[in-house]
Amino acid sequence: MPSVLVLNGPNLNLLGQRQPEVYGSTTLADIEAACTAHAVDLDVAFLQSNHEGVLLDAIHAAKGVHGGLIINAGAYTHTSIALMDAVASVELPTVEVHLSNIHAREPFRHVSYLSKVAIGQICGFGPQGYLMALDALAARLATS
Ligand code: DQA
Repeated sequence: MPSVLVLNGPNLNLLGQRQPEVYGSTTLADIEAACTAHAVDLDVAFLQSNHEGVLLDAIHAAKGVHGGLIINAGAYTHTSIALMDAVASVELPTVEVHLSNIHAREPFRHVSYLSKVAIGQICGFGPQGYLMALDALAARLATS
């Protein structure tokens, strides 16, 4: 069975308490449990870190272990050329997820370095976006 790594970046450990009017009341543990329940055709692993280097190391280590990546890089989405380069380097199909619709928010959130190397971006659907990303990756991995 193909395996997917779901990576969450800075401040996403605070989901449920953090700006619920923007990010909702679902916790990251709830999202991870929903992903596990949803992914019948995939093994799913999870990592959250507030540290860019830890996320970089996890992306590097995913090569040869996981078939694809789902990444919500939080604010690093808008700043991190290093994360973009890491995803490009490992050549794993990657789906970018955001809970909020970043294109309807402040202009600095409209830019995503990850989008340049992701197969696609899902944003604005809240926690459901992670499940949509799993479906997209399952379909991609089934044909590759
Ligand atoms: C986010 C959007 C980012 O702009 C923000 O910095 C986050 C969360 C989202 O899931 O909507 O931390 O990635």
